[in-house]
Amino acid sequence: MAKEMTFSIIKPNAVKKNAIGDIINMFESQGLKIAAAKLTVLPRKKAEEFYAEHSARPFFGELVDFMTSGPVMLMALSGEGAIMKNRAIMGATDPAKAEAGTIRKKHGASVGENAVHGSDSPESAARELALFFEKSELVNA
Ligand code: RTP
Ligand code: MG
Repeated sequence: MAKEMTFSIIKPNAVKKNAIGDIINMFESQGLKIAAAKLTVLPRKKAEEFYAEHSARPFFGELVDFMTSGPVMLMALSGEGAIMKNRAIMGATDPAKAEAGTIRKKHGASVGENAVHGSDSPESAARELALFFEKSELVNA
């Protein structure tokens, strides 16, 4: 499998419960490397742009409210097959349906407050990484 880079967000509910270290440990212990990281509060416009594909959905306003409600950890993760590997480590969107041992099972509170985001395809990864990081900020490339 080829080495890839993907985009990850530790969402406000997980930052608030002091789970950054535990979540990063789950990535690192399963073979992903941090290629960039930034702790920040997302400006509303940036969150709307990031979630543009969901702008017509009924939960869009709630989603943007939540994602801008507190600090988030933005990360680039690299490794063999990093995009799908990250999705597997995260677990299902709904924490109630996520498998044991996944981040969302352990740290997700609800479908909305599901602890982490991860790019779902190479196209999404490229778009999302470019939205939040300069090329020069990425290591482990
Ligand atoms: P993400 O983009 O955050 O990694 O999550 P995902 O691919 O597993 O799920 P996606 O379909 O892309 O949905 C994006 C985020 O929107 C919120 N959501 N809320 N209330 C609802 O019915 C609902 N459905 C989705 C979730 O926070 C989801 O992560
Ligand atoms: Mg998604």
